[in-house]
Order: sequence, then structure tokens, then C-alpha cells
Amino acid sequence: MNHFLKLADITHPVVQGPFGGGISTPELTAAVSNGGGLGSFGLHHLSPAGMHATAEAIRRLTPGPFNLNLWVSPGDADASLDYAEMHRSVWLPMFAPLYEEQGVAAPSAPLAPEFSVEQQYEAILEIRPKVASFVFGVPPAAFLAHCRQLGILTVGTATTPAEALAIEAAGMDAVVASGCEAGGHRTAFLRPAEEHLIGTLPLIPMVADAVSIPVIAAGGIADQRGLRAVQALGAAAAQVGTAFLACEESGTTPAHRAALQRGFGEGTEVSRSMTGRLARFLRNALLTRLQGLPHLPFPLQSHYLAPLKQLARTSGDESWSPGHYSGQAAPLIRHTKAADLLASLVG
Ligand SMILES: Cc1cc2nc3c(=O)[nH]c(=O)nc-3n(C[C@H](O)[C@H](O)[C@H](O)COP(=O)(O)O)c2cc1C
Repeated sequence: MNHFLKLADITHPVVQGPFGGGISTPELTAAVSNGGGLGSFGLHHLSPAGMHATAEAIRRLTPGPFNLNLWVSPGDADASLDYAEMHRSVWLPMFAPLYEEQGVAAPSAPLAPEFSVEQQYEAILEIRPKVASFVFGVPPAAFLAHCRQLGILTVGTATTPAEALAIEAAGMDAVVASGCEAGGHRTAFLRPAEEHLIGTLPLIPMVADAVSIPVIAAGGIADQRGLRAVQALGAAAAQVGTAFLACEESGTTPAHRAALQRGFGEGTEVSRSMTGRLARFLRNALLTRLQGLPHLPFPLQSHYLAPLKQLARTSGDESWSPGHYSGQAAPLIRHTKAADLLASLVG
């Protein structure tokens, strides 16, 4: 039996990609776990109390194993800055023309985060999910040792063989190898993300050759052909994001889901313009409008584009949405229910 399936206690070699920032739902996680795959939930944006509430909601919907996902590096902004002063004198004036054009109210000054990654690690140890996965780095050794003692399987995310080696050296149990076709952020941590744009086809065999822990392939997999291809390249499982994002159980907007289901006319692009970190999006009017303009570090850029996110939610028009994420495989999407997608992947 596939070593990873045994470790994670799942039947099918499919991990539903976690979505951070409020797009994961307990319903999506549970649908995949109940179908024999590994459902995931991205909770980097949640406080420890929010993490506990989420885990309870998932456990009400499934007795199966699930994966909780955190970001090791939560932000790039300089915490020593006077946010109120910067808001008044620099940041707000940068975005004011956009708010005026789109007829949205400006946000108030950003606040320092109310919880730390260390507190989130503590919550993981208390919740004890079957699997905990991480992006943007390697968690501290003491925390990983504690996970091992408690039987929590830890999974890192690599965009190069060097990152996969760092994850294996830290004693993590498996590695997601994320090709640049993937939707969402490029989670590089050893070098700038722009230098880590290796595609899934070469990345998987390179990582499989470099490490001896199980490799989970991510990026561009949306149907059974993709799953079989990455298995042939040495992956123990596939992590599928965009195709699950398009399912009705995901927490994105109906308009975003519909755009993914339609495939895309304009294609996708990696950009720092929407969040301050490099991520892949469906092209829309906002991405074009922001092209070439300076951006703030994560998460400040997201804070200042939040009024447009809200506008997209209320208007049902994604043209100006900063959350219009997609991987390159969107045109391969054929399913609207997570259970149907999972069944079609594993055939
Ligand atoms: C909207 C969105 C949000 C994501 N958020 C996270 C996240 O918080 N943590 C993470 O590990 N991966 C995140 N990902 C990556 C997915 O979990 C998955 O690895 C990726 O989507 C796989 O590639 P695909 O989109 O080509 O299927 C996100 C992807 C998308 C599309």
C-alpha cells in the first residue's frame, strides 16, 4: 500500500488543497474526507479560538482524518512602523484614486495582528488533527517534535528540490511539491518566489529523486490524467486546489466559482499586485489596473484592497476582485460537487 495513504489513514491518493483567508469551509473538507481523500482547511488567518471552532465544525461533519494548514511566515510588513501615521501620509493616498474610481469607502488604518504563529502552533497541538501542513517555511524543531509525540503527521511545501531537502531534514513526514501552474500563492521560502517558478512536470521527479519522504504533487492537476501522470513521476498523491475551489462547497463567491467553471478567456498570471506576495490569478480588470504600480508588503496590500473584495461579494462582479485566484488547469474543470470530483479523479 502507498506509504502516504497508510500514514494519513486515507483510501485515495487525493489531498484537497487548503485555501487560506476564509475560502476553505468545513463542508468542503468533510466532503473530501468522507469520500476517502484528505480534506484540508487553510486557517492562517484565524485566531486560536477560530481554529478550535473550525476543527469542531469539521469534526461534526466527518469522523475521518483531515489536514489543517498554517503559514510559517505570516507577513512581510515592518512591525516597527507607525501604522496610523503611515496610513494617513503614505498608504491611503496610494489607494485613494482606486477607491474613488470604484466608489468604495476607504478602510481604516491596519492593525497589528492579534495573535502570533506560535499561538497558532499551540492550537494545532491542542486540536491534534491527523495531518498539519505548512507553507512559507519550516516550523520550529520543538513544535515538530511535539507533533511527532502526539501522532500529528506534518507536511511541508516545497517549490524546489532544495526546499524539499530542508523539509525532510527538519523531520517532516511528507512534502507537497508545488509546481508553478498552481492557483494561490507561490510559497517559496529559500529564495524570492519569482526565482521558484518550476513547473509540476520537472519538479515532481526532481523532488522524488532528492528526498525519501512521500511526495504530494500540486499544481495543474484537475482530472484523472493529471493524477496518473504525477503518480508516474514519483508522487504518492496529488493535492488538487483549483478544481475543488470551483465546487459548490468551497467558500468563494458564486461569480468566482462560475468563472472557474467557464474555464477562462483571459488566462492566468502570477502577480504581487493583489496581496503583496506572488500568487496566481485569473486575469481581471483589477490585475490590469494595478500592473506596473508599486504594491505594499503582505498583508498590507490585501488590507487596502479589501474594500474591492467586499464590493465583488455584494455586486456579484469579479472584475475588480483581488481574490480572483486560479491555477492553470481551470479549463479542465468538469464537476460542481466535491464528492463527484473526487470520484472522477480516482475513477
Ligand atoms: C484561493 C487559493 C488559496 C490557497 N491557499 C492556500 C493556503 O492557505 N495554504 C496552502 O498550503 N495552499 C494554499 N493554496 C494552494 C492549494 O492548496 C493547492 O496546493 C493548489 O491550488 C494546487 O494547485 P492547483 O490550483 O493547480 O490545483 C491555495 C490555492 C488557492 C487557489
